[in-house]
Amino acid sequence: MGKGFFISKTVGIAGIVLAAGALATIIALSVVYSQEKSKNNENEVKPTGAITTSVPTTEPSNEPWDQWRLPQTLSPQTYNVTLWPRLQPDATGLYIFTGLSSVVFRCVEKTNLILIHSNKLNMTQQPTLTAVGSKPAPTIESVVMHTKTQYMAIHLKEELTAGESYELYTEFVGELANDLGGFYRSEYYENGVKKVVATTQMQATDARKAFPCFDEPAMKAIFHITLYHDPATVALSNSVVKDEVNVTIDDTLVTRTTFEPTKVMSTYLLAFIVSDFISIEQNMNDLQIRIFARQEAINAGQGDYALSVTGKIFKFFEDYYNVPYPLPKSDQIALPDFNAGAMENWGLITYRETGLLYDEEISSNGNKERIVTIIAHELAHQWFGNLVTIRWWNDLWLNEGFASYVEYLGADYAEQEWNIKDLIVLNDVHRVFAIDALASSHPLSSKEEDIQRPEQISEVFDTISYSKGASVLRMLSDFLTETVFTQGLRTYLDHFKYSNTVYTDLWEHLQRAVDSSSTTLPRSVQEIMDRWVLQMGFPVVTINTATGQITQEHFLLDPDTKPDRPSEFNYEWLVPISWTKKEAAEPLYWLLEKTTQMDQMKTSGDVWVLANINVTGYYRVNYDNENWQRLLTVLETSRQSIPVINRAQIIDDAFNLAKAGIIETTLALRTTLFLDSETEYMPWESALDNLDYFYLMFDRTEVYGPMQKYIGNQVKYLFEYFTTLTNWEDVPPGHTDQYNQVNALRVACSTGLEACTTLVKTWFQQWMENPNVNPIKANLRSTVYCSAIAAGGEKEWNFAWEMFGKATIASEKDKLRAALACATEPWLLNRYLKYTLDPDIIRKQDATSTIVSIASNVVGQPLAWDFVRANWEYIFNEYGGGSFSFSNLINGITKRFSTEFELQQLIQFRDDYAHIGFGSGTLAIQQSIERTTANIKWVEKNQQAVLEWFRNPL
Ligand SMILES: *[C@@H]1O[C@H](CO)[C@@H](O)[C@H](O)[C@H]1NC(C)=O
Ligand SMILES: *[C@@H]1O[C@H](CO)[C@@H](O)[C@H](O)[C@H]1NC(C)=O
Ligand SMILES: *[C@@H]1O[C@H](CO)[C@@H](O)[C@H](O)[C@H]1NC(C)=O
Ligand SMILES: *[C@@H]1O[C@H](CO)[C@@H](O)[C@H](O)[C@H]1NC(C)=O
Ligand SMILES: [Zn+2]
Repeated sequence: MGKGFFISKTVGIAGIVLAAGALATIIALSVVYSQEKSKNNENEVKPTGAITTSVPTTEPSNEPWDQWRLPQTLSPQTYNVTLWPRLQPDATGLYIFTGLSSVVFRCVEKTNLILIHSNKLNMTQQPTLTAVGSKPAPTIESVVMHTKTQYMAIHLKEELTAGESYELYTEFVGELANDLGGFYRSEYYENGVKKVVATTQMQATDARKAFPCFDEPAMKAIFHITLYHDPATVALSNSVVKDEVNVTIDDTLVTRTTFEPTKVMSTYLLAFIVSDFISIEQNMNDLQIRIFARQEAINAGQGDYALSVTGKIFKFFEDYYNVPYPLPKSDQIALPDFNAGAMENWGLITYRETGLLYDEEISSNGNKERIVTIIAHELAHQWFGNLVTIRWWNDLWLNEGFASYVEYLGADYAEQEWNIKDLIVLNDVHRVFAIDALASSHPLSSKEEDIQRPEQISEVFDTISYSKGASVLRMLSDFLTETVFTQGLRTYLDHFKYSNTVYTDLWEHLQRAVDSSSTTLPRSVQEIMDRWVLQMGFPVVTINTATGQITQEHFLLDPDTKPDRPSEFNYEWLVPISWTKKEAAEPLYWLLEKTTQMDQMKTSGDVWVLANINVTGYYRVNYDNENWQRLLTVLETSRQSIPVINRAQIIDDAFNLAKAGIIETTLALRTTLFLDSETEYMPWESALDNLDYFYLMFDRTEVYGPMQKYIGNQVKYLFEYFTTLTNWEDVPPGHTDQYNQVNALRVACSTGLEACTTLVKTWFQQWMENPNVNPIKANLRSTVYCSAIAAGGEKEWNFAWEMFGKATIASEKDKLRAALACATEPWLLNRYLKYTLDPDIIRKQDATSTIVSIASNVVGQPLAWDFVRANWEYIFNEYGGGSFSFSNLINGITKRFSTEFELQQLIQFRDDYAHIGFGSGTLAIQQSIERTTANIKWVEKNQQAVLEWFRNPL
C-alpha cells in the first residue's frame, strides 16, 4: 500500500499506535488547511504539490475531462474511505471534514489518464498511485482539478495496462457546510444547547463532494468506511460496526469506528452520520432494525410508530420480491435539516423529521400516513434501486415510479384497515394527469445523452418520474395480473442483483413471465409499454354507447395548444379498457387503434357503461351525452353500484373534459349533485380539488354568493353525518373517514354553517383560556386554527402567533404558520406580510410559502401582490439565492388572476423589473401570463352559465 495510512495489514495494539500516527497526519491536514486559508486571504496561493485548477473555457472540446460522463477505461473495485467531520468550527469559523481515501481500480482499456470525480474538495497533498499486481505503476505527471465537470484528472507519464489493478490514494479537506448536499451539517437546539450533526445526501451527484470517487451509478464497488468522531457521539454508516477504539490525538480522546465492508453498491447510496442521537430497536429474525433521532424525540416516544411498522413492511417486501433483505441491519434516522423527504441509502435511510417522527397527541392521521408510506417507499428501494440499480439517471422514472407504486402495497400490508391502495388515484394518478395534459409535458423516458449535467439529472426527479411512473406500472401490474407481474419482477431481481439495468430489462423478464402463464396480451410487453413510456401525455377514450364507436385522442387541457415534440406513435396508445355494463364486469378490452367499433358497448334504456374501473388505466374517459345522463342518474339514485374510486373519477374526468372544452361546464358541475348524500372521502376530495378552481376564478364576483349557497347545501348532510358519528369528540374509525371529517368541518365552516362556526369558536376560546391544554383534536387542528383566525380578530391572531413561537414540533409550527394567513382583517395580513421578510421572525426557507398562503386568502391576495411588487428589489437581492423559490412565489400570488386589468398589471410588473430580473421565477412570469390569458378566456366563456347553474343547480 502506497501511503501507509491503512493499518489493517498490521494487527492489534500495533494497529492502534499506527493509527495515532496516521491521525497526526489528519491533524496536520487541518493545520495545513488553516495556514493555507489565512494565506489565501492575502494573495493567491496554489494548493500544495503540483495540483492545478483548470480554467473553464467555453470552446467546444473533445477532451475526456470536458465530457460529463466518465470514460469506460477504468473500473473501481474497492474503496477505503476515512473521514473525520469536525462538529466544532475551526479557528476561522469554518466547519470542515478531513479525509483519506484509496481506491483500487482495474484498468479495462489502456490509458494514461485517470479521471475521477471530485467536487469542492481540496487535495492536501499530491495523490499517489501504486500497482496492485506485479507491473509497476506509471509515474504521475500532473494533477488538474476541473471544477466545471467536477473531475480530478491525473495525467500519467506511461500508460496503465489493461487487465491490471492499481491503487490511487488521496488526502483532502472539505467544508462541512449547511448546504444539504454531500457531507453536510445540520443544526438544532436541545435544552438551549446548539448541537451539530454531520450527515450525508449523495444522490444524485454529491458523493464526489465527500471523497474522490467514480461517481456514476453503474460504477459499483465495495466500500470500507472508517469514521473518526467524539467519543460522546455515535457514528453510523451503511454497514454494521466492525471495530471501535479510542485513540488520543493531541491530548484529545477520539473514537475511531470502522465498519464492515459494504456489499457491491453505487456511490449515491452511501451514508455517513455522526451525531449524539439515540435509538430504539427491534430484531426480526437476524435483522436488526433501529430508529435514530434527537434524544428528546426518542424519549418522547416519537420513533415508536416507525419502529412498529418497519418490521411488517420488511416482511411484506421479502415475500413480494422473494429475495431476502441482503444486509444484517436497517437503520432509519430523522434529521432536523433534510432537503428531500427521505433517502434510501442502503442500510441507513435518512428522513426529514416529519417523515419518521409521530406523536399520538399532536400529529394528525395525515402525518401518520405520510410516515408509513414513505418508509414503505424507502424499504422498497432496498431491493429495487439498491440491489438492482439503473445504469444511468435517464431511467430514474423506473426506480422512482416503481417505489412510488409499491409503497402503497407495503403501507397497505402494515395498515390493513386503511384502504390506502385506493388513494394512489387521488395522490398520483389525478395529480400527474394535471401536468401530463400540458403541451409542455415530457415523456417518462429520456435518452441517456440528454441527461448529462448535474442540473439535468436533478430535473428528472419530477412528478412525471414519480407519479406517472407509479401510475403506468400499476396499470401494467393490473393487466398482467399481480401474479405474473411479481413473477417477472422476481427473476429480474435475481438475475441482476448487485449490477445495473436499463428499463427494457424489466420488460424482458415480465415478457418471460407472461409467456409461461395463461395471461394473453394483444402485443408484447415492450410494444404496449413503449407507447406509455416513450411519448408524453395520455389519451382520452371516448365511448359512444349509441353507436358502439370507441376513439382515443391525446388529451390536452388547453385545446388551443399543440405538443411541440413529435411522437413516432402519433400520440396513439395501446389502451387496456376495463369496463362494466351496469354492474356486470365485462372482459378487458384492448383499444389498439385510433377508432374502432365495439358492438358490446352499445346500450340503450337505463343500461349504463362505465370504463376504467378503479382508474387502473392511465387515461380519461368520455361518453356520449346519453350515457353521461345515465351515470348522473345512477350517482343520484343508487350510487353504491359505482365503485367509490370511479365516483371520484367521474368528477375528475368531467371537470377536466370541461376545462378542455370537450363537454359543457354545467355537466361537470352536475357530477357534484350526488354529494348531498355522499359520505365517502374520495368523491368529496375529488370534487373539492376541482371546485377550488371555481373559487379562485369567482370568489370576487357575483358567482360567489350562489356558489357558497350551493356548496353549503351539499355539505350539510356530511356535517350532520359526522356530528352523529363522532359528536366531534371521537375520532372516526375509518382512515379516510378521518380525512373526510376534516373536509366536512372545513367546508361547513367556510360556507358559514352556524353549527360549525360555533363549534370551532368554542374550541379555540377554550384553548385561549388555557394555553397549556390544547383541546383541539390532532386531525382537526389545521382547519380549526384557520377557521377561528378567519372568524376572529386581533386577539385570536396574536394568540396563535404566540403559540407559533412556543411550538416545539415542526408539524405544529407549520399548521399555525399557515393558519395565520387565514385572517380577514387587511391590517393583520399586511403586518404578517412584513414579518415574512424578517428572517428572525420567519425562517428564510418559510418566507415564500407564507406569502403564498396569504395570497391564497381572497382578502390577502391583492395585499400580497402589492407587497411583492413594492418590495421586489429587496426580495430579489435578499432572498435571491438558495432555497427561496421565486417560481412558487410568482405562481402563488398570480393564480387567481383572471381579468384583463390583472393581466396588464402582470405585464407591467414584468417590464418594470426587467432590469433587476426574476431569477428562478423567469419562466413562472411567462407561465403566469399564459395562465391568466387562459383564465380570462375561460371566465368569459363560462361565467354566465356557471352563475345560472349555481342559482338553479339541476
Ligand atoms: C482496506 O481496508 C481493508 C480492511 O480495513 C483491508 O483489508 C484492505 O486491504 C484495504 N484496502 C486498501 C486498498 O487499502
Ligand atoms: C479549498 O480551497 C479554496 C481555494 O483555496 C478555499 O477557498 C476553500 O475555503 C478551501 N476549502 C476548504 C474546506 O478547505
Ligand atoms: C471510548 O471512550 C468513551 C468515553 O470515555 C467510553 O465511553 C467508551 O466506552 C470508549 N470506547 C472504547 C471502545 O473503549
Ligand atoms: C376496486 O377497488 C375496490 C376498493 O379498493 C375493490 O374492493 C374492488 O375489488 C376493485 N375492483 C376491481 C374490479 O378490481
Ligand atoms: Zn424513491
